[in-house]
Amino acid sequence: MACVTPARRVKGRSITTLDGIDPAARERWADAFCATGASQCGFCTPGIIVRLHGLAAKKPDASIADAERALQAHLCRCTGWRTILDAWEHREQPVTIDGRDLDAAARRAEIEGRIPQAVGPHVALGAGGFADDTAPADALVAVPTADGDWVVAESLGEARQAAGKVQGRRTTVDAEPPLELPDGDWAVTLRTSWVEPAYLETDASWCRPGGEPASPLANGGAFGAKVDSIAPGAARRLADEHDRAVRVVVSREDAVRSGAKRPPVAAGIRADGTGVIRVARTPGIVDAIHAVAPELEVEEVSVAGPPTSAAIRAAGWAEAAILRAAITGEATITGEATITGPDGSRATATVDDGTIKIRVSCGDPLDEVVLHSYCVGAAHMALSWVTSEGLAVDDAGAVHDLTIRSFGVLRAVDTPPIEIELDPGPGPPVNGSDTVFAAVAAAVWIHQGLPPVWPTGQTVRTN
Ligand code: FES
Repeated sequence: MACVTPARRVKGRSITTLDGIDPAARERWADAFCATGASQCGFCTPGIIVRLHGLAAKKPDASIADAERALQAHLCRCTGWRTILDAWEHREQPVTIDGRDLDAAARRAEIEGRIPQAVGPHVALGAGGFADDTAPADALVAVPTADGDWVVAESLGEARQAAGKVQGRRTTVDAEPPLELPDGDWAVTLRTSWVEPAYLETDASWCRPGGEPASPLANGGAFGAKVDSIAPGAARRLADEHDRAVRVVVSREDAVRSGAKRPPVAAGIRADGTGVIRVARTPGIVDAIHAVAPELEVEEVSVAGPPTSAAIRAAGWAEAAILRAAITGEATITGEATITGPDGSRATATVDDGTIKIRVSCGDPLDEVVLHSYCVGAAHMALSWVTSEGLAVDDAGAVHDLTIRSFGVLRAVDTPPIEIELDPGPGPPVNGSDTVFAAVAAAVWIHQGLPPVWPTGQTVRTN
C-alpha cells in the first residue's frame, strides 16, 4: 500500500506495481473491475488489483474468503467490497465490456455521485484523472499549517518539514455522541457522532498564475465533502503570489481536521411521527430534514467540533427518514424499511439471515452495473455508519481520530453479502443510492432492536 508505506521500509526489496504486471493480465483485471462495478473513484483500485493478482499467483485455488482476507490491508470507501469480490470471481472467466454504453454509465455515476465521473477500465488502473496527477513536475508545493496558513516549498518533503507535520495517530478515546436528547415522551431515540466522509483521495489542486485551479472533485464526489474544499482557492491565490504553478497537497490529518463531516444528531420521535431532531448547527440542514419530514421540529445547536455540511450524503434527511421508518408498525414486524428520498426514488431494505437485501426504484437505470455498484457502496456505508463509524472529538472540539483506519469503516471481512434488485420503473433517472443508504441504515437499526446510540458496535454478518 504505497499510500502508507515509507520508502525506507522497502529498501533493498523488489517491488511490482500495477504497471509491472503483464499487460494482458492488467487489461483482464481492468475489464473485470469495470464489468462488475468494482471501481468508482479508482483511488484504491490499483493497489487492490496488485493484491488480488499476487494472491491468484501465489494460490491459484484461493477462495472468496481468501480474497476477503487479502483485502484486510486495503480500504475502499466507494464500492462496499462485494463488487470487488465479484471482480475476483471473474479472474479466470474474462468478461467483456463491449456493447456497454459507457457514456450512459457515466451519466448514472454522475447522478449517484452528484459530480461528473468517468467510467471505464482506465479508472480501475488509476487513470481516472486525479487532480494531483496532472500537476506540472516543477510546481511549488503548498501544505496547510495548524493555524490555517500555508507553507510553500520546492518539494512536498520540504513543505511538510517546514510546516512541522507529524503523522496522525489513532486515538484510544471512544467516539461519544456530543448532543443530549431533547426532553419528551419518545417512542424511539437516536444519538449519533460526527462521521468522517473518509474519501480516499485527500483534497488536492494545482494552479498556474492567473489560471483556473484543478478541481479536487476530478474523479469522485467524496460523498459531498469536497464541495467546499480549501485546496482550489489556495492553489489559485498562492500561484499568483509566487508567480509559479503551485500544487496544494492536503494530508489525511489536514482533511480530517478541516474537512466537512456529517453533523451529529440527538433525536426523539413519538409514535404519531412528531418529534424533535437536535443537530449540530449546519447551513441548509433544516431544509434537508424538512424535505422528507416537515412534521419534525429541528433544533440547531452550536457545538465545538469539526466543520459539518448538509452536502454530505443524505445528511439530516436520512436521519429523519430512518426515525420515521423505525416507528412504522410494518417495519417493526417485518424488519423491512422503506424510504422515499427527496428526489422521489424509493428503496426497501431488510437484513435477512446475514444478508442485506435491497429493492430500489430510481427511474431509468441508464447502466445497471454502475447503479448496482453505487447501491452496494451506499449499503456498506450505511451498515458501517450504524455499527462502527464515529469520530473521537474532545470537549474543545479537536478531532483525535486522524488516520484512515480510525474512522471505523467496515472491512471486506465484516461486510455481509448485499443483494440488490433494481426496479427500473418509469420516469427519468434520479439518485437512488442515497435512498438505499437511508433504507439500509434503518433496516440494520431495526434488525438490531433500535439501540439508541450509534455506532452500535454490533455486526450483522453471520459467518
Ligand atoms: Fe475504492 Fe473509491 S473506488 S475508494
